[in-house]
Amino acid sequence: MATAKDSATVSEIHVVGVLGAGQMGGGIAQVAATAGYAVRLADASLELAEKGKQRIVAQLTKQVEKGKLAADVKDAIAERIVAIADILGFADCDLVIEAATENVELKMKLFRQIDEALKPGAYLATNTSSISITKLAAATSRPERVIGMHFMNPPPVMKLVEIVRAVQTTDATFALIKSVSEKMGKTVTSSKDAPGFLVNRMLIPFLNEACFALQEGVGTPEDIDTGAKLGLNHPMGPLELADLIGLDTVLAISDVLHRDLGDSKYRAPTLLRNLVAAGWNGRKAGRGFYVYDAKGQKVAS
Ligand code: CAA
Repeated sequence: MATAKDSATVSEIHVVGVLGAGQMGGGIAQVAATAGYAVRLADASLELAEKGKQRIVAQLTKQVEKGKLAADVKDAIAERIVAIADILGFADCDLVIEAATENVELKMKLFRQIDEALKPGAYLATNTSSISITKLAAATSRPERVIGMHFMNPPPVMKLVEIVRAVQTTDATFALIKSVSEKMGKTVTSSKDAPGFLVNRMLIPFLNEACFALQEGVGTPEDIDTGAKLGLNHPMGPLELADLIGLDTVLAISDVLHRDLGDSKYRAPTLLRNLVAAGWNGRKAGRGFYVYDAKGQKVAS
């Protein structure tokens, strides 16, 4: 049986797997391929992975049309991304970044499967927004090589990667993943493995408070979002941002914060819960706090 050496250096990472070809996984695959990595992109089926790749190519094509990216560079980035049928296709990866739906049972199952498919010495990161990295690491045979790599939405635009160490993560793994993130053009902050880490612990109460204000009729969605944009200089208002993130994801993170920190200030508003129950999960569903057309442009509230 092949054995792993103690740790790899950034120059030894060549092939990056991404599990989840939706808005976060697709964005991460784009960032990794742009940084020069060979990317294996997987989702629940080959068809979904291929659709994810098509969305990335469409995004890169827009950049070419705007004159911000050369056509041959776009082609080279696209060629580096290979859609694969399933997790077994991660066998040659040096690092896999999991970006599946925010559900602990699902992620535990996927972590076990990826761990089995990966070669010894490969690294396993998760883009989870709130789930315990320590718990996910414990589900694998390589807990010292497991880490949180929390990209922000949309990953190609946002500069931060919040790195979260599991209790088991070694210093060498942390240093390697920091270097890989920097090679991807990102600035790194680090957080302990605590519910919501740092960014979502700050963000989610803000998004929920905007939703409580809407629920109570204090203002319209436009009043709330314009207040944050023009009054606080935020690029997007909290309701627009919640729609971009996905209301199902916002609710899932809220529930983890509320349960694990045990403070009622993290409880989710009934309005948010109802929108999710209706399937109105935000921009990706065509409807959330606002209604969107097929191109994702806001058409009404
Ligand atoms: N993928 C790739 N690129 C995208 C993109 C996407 N989904 N959306 C926008 N862009 C690019 C555009 O192509 C454009 O690029 P160029 O400047 O090179 O032409 C650039 O971003 C700006 O886009 P737009 O001009 O269309 O729109 P904008 O100026 O309003 O910016 C935005 C859009 C970048 C999303 C901006 O509104 C913004 O920064 N919003 C806040 C986003 C934010 O807070 N994200 C963090 C969410 S929290 C999180 O992710 C953590 C979690 O776990 C929940």
